[in-house]
Amino acid sequence: KKTLKIAPSILSADFGNFERDVIGLEIAGAEWVHIDVMDGHFVDNLSFGADLVKAIRPVTKCLLDCHLMVENPEKYVDSFAKAGADSLSVHVESTPHIHAVLQKIKAAGMRSAVVLNPGTSVSAIRHVLEMVDMVLVMTVNPGFSGQKFIPECLEKVRELNEMREILALNFEIQVDGGVNDETVISCRKAGADIFVAGNYIFSGNVAENIAKLREKLV
Ligand code: DX5
Ligand code: ZN
Repeated sequence: KKTLKIAPSILSADFGNFERDVIGLEIAGAEWVHIDVMDGHFVDNLSFGADLVKAIRPVTKCLLDCHLMVENPEKYVDSFAKAGADSLSVHVESTPHIHAVLQKIKAAGMRSAVVLNPGTSVSAIRHVLEMVDMVLVMTVNPGFSGQKFIPECLEKVRELNEMREILALNFEIQVDGGVNDETVISCRKAGADIFVAGNYIFSGNVAENIAKLREKLV
C-alpha cells in the first residue's frame, strides 16, 4: 500500500516570501513541495528554474518535486540535479526522446516521472511505465494555477491503477490541477496517491487547507 502524499504547488505561493511559504508547508505537514517550471514555449507562461530549487533546498526537508513544462527537457536535467531536486517530471508531449530523458534523470540520481496532458492517452507512455517512479496525470491543461478540474482525466488514473496491478509495477500516480477538498475525493477513488494543489492550499490558511485535504484521504 502506498503512502498518500500532499504536494503543495508553490506556483500559488507569495513570490516575495518563498522562504516563509516553503517553511510553512513543512510545518503544516506537507510531504512534498511541487515546483512548476515553465518556459513560455511548451506552455504560455513563465515561472522559475533550477536557481529557485537551489534557493529553497536549504530551508526544507520536503521532497522537491519538479514538474518541467518546457521544451527540450533533457537540457535541464543536470542543473536541476545539481540544485538539489529530488524528482523530475517530464511531459511525454515535450520530447521525441522520453525514454532517453527518463534514463538521464535516473542516471543523475533523481526520481523520475512522466506526465500526461489531458488530451494524451495512457498508451503513449506504455513503454516507459517499467522505468518510472511516478506517472503524473494532469487534471487541467498545464500553464496556469486556479483552473477548473477536468473529471474525464480520472479515467486515465483508473486505467493506470489497473495496469500497475496487472503488470506488478510500483510507480506512484499523481494528479495535478484543480484539486480541492471535493475533487480530491474522486482522485483518491480513481487510485491516485499524490495530490498536487496550488490555488486551494494557498487561498486562506495554508495549514487548515492541508488538513482539510488530508481529512478526505483514506
Ligand atoms: C499547472 C501546474 C499546476 C498548478 C496547480 O500548470 O502544473 O501544478 O499550479 O494549481 P491549482 O491547484 O491551482 O490548479
Ligand atoms: Zn504542476
